[in-house]
Amino acid sequence: MSRGKLLREIVADLYGVEAAKKVWGRLEVIGDIAILRKPPDLNIEFFKPVAEVLLKKLPYVKSVWLAISPIKSEHRVREYVHLAGEPRSETIYKEHGCLFKIDILNVYISPTLSYEHIRIAKLVMKNENIINMFAGAGLFSIIIAKHAKPTKILSIDINPRAYALMLENVKINKVEDVVQPVLGDAAEVVKAYRGWADRVLMPLPELSYKYLSEAVEALKAKGFIHVYDFVTAENPTEALRLGSLKFSSKLSGLGVKASINHGRVVRSVGPKYYQIVLDIEIVKDEIK
Ligand SMILES: C[S@@+](CC[C@H](N)C(=O)[O-])C[C@H]1O[C@@H](n2cnc3c(N)ncnc32)[C@H](O)[C@@H]1O
Repeated sequence: MSRGKLLREIVADLYGVEAAKKVWGRLEVIGDIAILRKPPDLNIEFFKPVAEVLLKKLPYVKSVWLAISPIKSEHRVREYVHLAGEPRSETIYKEHGCLFKIDILNVYISPTLSYEHIRIAKLVMKNENIINMFAGAGLFSIIIAKHAKPTKILSIDINPRAYALMLENVKINKVEDVVQPVLGDAAEVVKAYRGWADRVLMPLPELSYKYLSEAVEALKAKGFIHVYDFVTAENPTEALRLGSLKFSSKLSGLGVKASINHGRVVRSVGPKYYQIVLDIEIVKDEIK
């Protein structure tokens, strides 16, 4: 049985079938922490007995939290309340053979990006210099370092807690020689790396467009940029078309030749609202 179905079953047993229809149909488990989401019309107390049953039914879950806000703020985290089990927000999350210490209260983490992490790693060629402008706890950077053979990955985040965890994760996964964590605003940090990178990752939809020129400047004469963005559109195909237009036109204004090699919808965020990624090849020496 899927975890989401289990969650609905528990709620139905405790409160009835109608109540079960109101809960989020997914149960996120990160390491040994389970995360429920609070819909506006249900209160926090409603979820406490649910969390107690969950702990019994899923022995690998040691702590249950309720997300009570959307992802927000510069650091891209939610607000949570503890529901049951150990009152601990840190855990070890495993992905693609790597281990990540994370802290759900203070650092962005989403298993939804798992496919993207390995997809990008498989594109990386030997001896690349890479910049990850929005690295979080270091997932893209460390998975790339483990699964490909880059020379260096500059791994930037503005959140001091993400930076501290990234330092730990680099050690845990023994990639100190390759991944270099940096604390700071990516637009400022990359100014010291003009013409250095073969590839730039921009996994923050809120800033990928704004920081595009800094990313382009950090690239060698030829290179790749991976931009993540949110797009409002009628359907996924339209989302990719509109996103491609938006980035192509800005890149053309920056005077570089840009080819969008690939685009995909990472997830559907809401009705007619999509997160997309575009893999863009940049050639700077063909300035128009
Ligand atoms: C969506 S999360 C990154 C997710 C991460 N790449 C992963 O795969 O798990 C975006 C990150 O960008 C960071 N951030 C926000 N503004 C920033 C800035 N101006 N410069 C660098 N990092 C920034 C946030 O602290 C957050 O950790």
